[in-house]
Amino acid sequence: MTETRAAVLVESGRPAPYAESRPLEIAGLRLDPPGPGELLVRIGAAGLCHSDLSVINGSRPRPLPMALGHEAAGEVVETGPGTEFAPGDHIVLAFVPACGHCERCVGGRPALCGPGAQANGAGTLLGGGKRFVAADGTRPNHHLGVSAFSEYTVVSSRSAVKIDPDLPFDIAALFGCAVLTGAGAALYSAAVAPGDTVAVFGLGGVGLSAVLAAKAAGAATVYAVDLVQDKLDLAASLGAHPVPGGPDATDAIRDLTSGGAEKVIDTTGVVPVLEQAYAATRSGGTTVTVGLPAPGAPLTLPALSLVAEEKTLRGSYLGSCVPRRDVPRFIAMYRNGNLPVDALLTGSLPLDDINTGFDRLHTAEAVRQVITF
Ligand SMILES: NC(=O)c1ccc[n+]([C@@H]2O[C@H](COP(=O)([O-])OP(=O)(O)OC[C@H]3O[C@@H](n4cnc5c(N)ncnc54)[C@H](O)[C@@H]3O)[C@@H](O)[C@H]2O)c1
Ligand SMILES: [Zn+2]
Ligand SMILES: [Zn+2]
Repeated sequence: MTETRAAVLVESGRPAPYAESRPLEIAGLRLDPPGPGELLVRIGAAGLCHSDLSVINGSRPRPLPMALGHEAAGEVVETGPGTEFAPGDHIVLAFVPACGHCERCVGGRPALCGPGAQANGAGTLLGGGKRFVAADGTRPNHHLGVSAFSEYTVVSSRSAVKIDPDLPFDIAALFGCAVLTGAGAALYSAAVAPGDTVAVFGLGGVGLSAVLAAKAAGAATVYAVDLVQDKLDLAASLGAHPVPGGPDATDAIRDLTSGGAEKVIDTTGVVPVLEQAYAATRSGGTTVTVGLPAPGAPLTLPALSLVAEEKTLRGSYLGSCVPRRDVPRFIAMYRNGNLPVDALLTGSLPLDDINTGFDRLHTAEAVRQVITF
């Protein structure tokens, strides 16, 4: 048994400010030893992502109570039987455990792993179990197989990607969600090509990763859209062309690009913004969305334009990435200067301040904050 302190979401839908309503409680938990194919991990750093916020505010329902957090890097402390990892290995955690055997996994699309999605929906590890034990003997749910806002966690080795130990944990953590999702959306889902005009709606950790990757892929111009001036300024400093968000953003992009951008990526999770992104896509172009709106939120589009303008609309989960291929690939791009994702780091904070951190994400004043341990 390992003792840990973890941020546990006890109830969703409590009102902001979260520093007052305190939806995340810091609880002392015990952890069972890792089972077959599992790892006990000491978390080095864990990022605050909007997908955590969506569980906190109730727009993305999950089984509660839940030990939250899904973007992290850490060190393997102990291994269960049958893993390829060893104590001391540094790892990044991906938020979909890939079984390696299902039809989607063998087809090269592990982000869509069937057993992985089932375990994530049920709040268990890939093998079906729960490893946290609360003081009253109940078992909090796991968040996306990771539960990173905790000093220690147990994960399936299928969630883990080995990395070089010299990469600092706060940078490494970003690769687990923001960079896989945003860079993958640009490079794979949108297949940004040299000379493309690109627009990215929403400049959080995911959107700015998409901006950086689109530039790395040789995009002619990347238009970066947000409601928050600081986000526009940051995107501009990274080489994007800022466009203020709001009702006029579509027309602004259509004017700047003579009819729309070739690749448009929505990372807001706001359905009307996806509709704007589609309208800002030129004929023959592609709209990609990674945003995660509430499950029942409908989307309204002019259907004829799909055909008559040969537009493509596609969703992108985990950036359509293969984490064991792409975490090392994107880290290499970071190291050679082509993906400066350290620019996304707003700062680090202790676990006890996590509710305040989510206030800063809620008001969009922070890009990526990481909890460090
Ligand atoms: N598909 C996936 O695999 C995946 C993975 C991670 C996150 N997500 C989702 O991606 C989205 C982005 O995540 P994040 O952590 O970067 O979020 P974030 O909150 O850090 O960033 C969202 C940004 O969108 C901006 N925004 C909001 N409304 C806008 C509008 N009308 N016009 C322009 N900009 C607007 C906000 O100001 C903010 O800067 C969320 O919906 C999250 O749940 C999806
Ligand atoms: Zn995330
Ligand atoms: Zn699978």
